[in-house]
Amino acid sequence: MSIRRTREDSLSAGSDPFGGDADFGVWADQKDKPEQRMTELKVAVIPGDGIGPEITKAAIQVMEAAARKFDVKLTHDSAPAAAAAVDLGLPPLPDATLKLCRDSHAILCGPFGDPRWDNAPPADRPERAKLILRKTFELYANLRPVKPVPALLDSSPLRRELIEGADILIVRELVGGLYFSEPRGYFEDEKGRYGVNTLKYHAWEVDRIGKVAFEAARQRRNSVYSADKANALEATQLWRETMQKLHDKQYADVTLKHVFVDNCCMQLVAVPKQFDVIVAPNMFGDILSDIGAQITGSLGMLPSASLGAGVPLFEPVHGSAPDIVGKGKANPLAMILTVGMMYTHAAKRPDVGTAIDDAVAAALDKGYRTADIARGNEGEKLVGTREMGEAVLAALAG
Ligand code: IPM
Ligand code: MG
Repeated sequence: MSIRRTREDSLSAGSDPFGGDADFGVWADQKDKPEQRMTELKVAVIPGDGIGPEITKAAIQVMEAAARKFDVKLTHDSAPAAAAAVDLGLPPLPDATLKLCRDSHAILCGPFGDPRWDNAPPADRPERAKLILRKTFELYANLRPVKPVPALLDSSPLRRELIEGADILIVRELVGGLYFSEPRGYFEDEKGRYGVNTLKYHAWEVDRIGKVAFEAARQRRNSVYSADKANALEATQLWRETMQKLHDKQYADVTLKHVFVDNCCMQLVAVPKQFDVIVAPNMFGDILSDIGAQITGSLGMLPSASLGAGVPLFEPVHGSAPDIVGKGKANPLAMILTVGMMYTHAAKRPDVGTAIDDAVAAALDKGYRTADIARGNEGEKLVGTREMGEAVLAALAG
């Protein structure tokens, strides 16, 4: 069943300016509903910064091969953003790039960020373009699946027995909280300069992300952990209350546990298998997902989907890795798995998404490893970005 919010079922109906039009694509049980499938898919590709262009090249090849194999009429066009745009004399999010995104069914986005802006204030940094994209399309639900591939169980810094069988979905609120609330900025008073960010959540914002988490849990193992800091912060005390009310009113069949975010971080590395869905405010979800990445062996393995009212955006969780740019050794798998999420959620083709996941698993089974996931074990073949992409393509064709 797709997650469709309606004003009627919203606890705080009427206060959500985007009420009713969010479409969360498909979950696993929609495999049997071919009528929802899209036969055409128009993708706006933003390769991004650093290793972005290298991994995007590999991901586009997989995206095209999957379209051919599964009869999707795929078209795609690329446009710059972030540092790549600034280097062309353009703003971090050029109008033409935004227009291309608006005119597409999905946005496939590489990592943003460049060390030349390391000391710049947030508003001037290239990554800002990503936040603007998320906000422009009101992509409030960021899905970050954390599921170790069997072949990589020994690549994680955590012991195999801890992570084997772990299967977590982090649902991160993406357009509110500390990242977007006002007031924000730099100010000055008699004690000198100071910086301000604000953590604010309306109940309707908690409601809409809570629904995504509960609906996802119903398709999985029926459990939601809601991460907050209700022992110290009012905004997340309200988060906790709202999650509980939503649960009691509409999702009593799902197990809901509240967990302080610091404890959640600890539990994620101590007993990762206890988690099914974790829902968290923007900032906490950012941190939790980087921890989650280590359960899969590398940040280079984590894809994500950002869904909401407008054009959905798909991006790997990792950054632009300036230290290995141009060396051809970046791991393209997070970006390739991201293409899989795009087929599942934007094109409503979970069959294609699953085929891409399987092809990645098969390439890893054959021993192919980029440097970040290589452990020097017997049978491993150390490869670069291009060869890893080719191994996935071969598996997809086979
Ligand atoms: C992420 C990233 C971004 C975020 C940065 C690049 C702004 O860390 O997507 O996790 O904090 O959301
Ligand atoms: Mg992050």
